[in-house]
Amino acid sequence: MSLRTSKKNVKEATLFKLETVDKYPEKYDEMTQYVKEQQEKQILPELKDVPDIAEYDVIFIGTPVWWGTVSLPVASFLQKANLVGKIVIPFITHEGSGESGIGESMQKASGCKKVLPALVIKGSEASESEDVVKKFIHTLKD
Ligand SMILES: Cc1cc2nc3c(=O)[nH]c(=O)nc-3n(C[C@H](O)[C@H](O)[C@H](O)COP(=O)(O)O)c2cc1C
Repeated sequence: MSLRTSKKNVKEATLFKLETVDKYPEKYDEMTQYVKEQQEKQILPELKDVPDIAEYDVIFIGTPVWWGTVSLPVASFLQKANLVGKIVIPFITHEGSGESGIGESMQKASGCKKVLPALVIKGSEASESEDVVKKFIHTLKD
């Protein structure tokens, strides 16, 4: 599948949701503290399922920025899934940090073929970002 095909079919793309076995704290402050500790200890959460992506050539990977880097469930996915030979297109939400070197982190963690420039939007603006998303899809090159 070429990127041209993936661009045309992006609406029909298969969607996978990453779910962790253990839940994260509900309260924001507890959550951020917990994540910070887990990052420091380099503990990645167990995923309920690691999506089988073998049949796909192009994988869009979405993550919020957590303490300046990729979220822990996505870090788990990058470690467990076989992304060798795949093209990765990150989409990232943040509240000020921007892209945060996440494309490079994804490349390093997964050993994928290539990471394309990310779609980067503020989490608080995500629900009104349909036009930005459409424009981004449009910029995808063959
Ligand atoms: C544990 C944690 C750490 C975060 N660290 C950052 C950060 O370093 N930089 C930043 O801009 N936003 C940070 N945020 C804000 C998130 O990026 C923002 O809440 C998220 O993109 C919104 O998406 P969501 O609704 O899927 O969580 C952090 C949020 C959490 C929960």
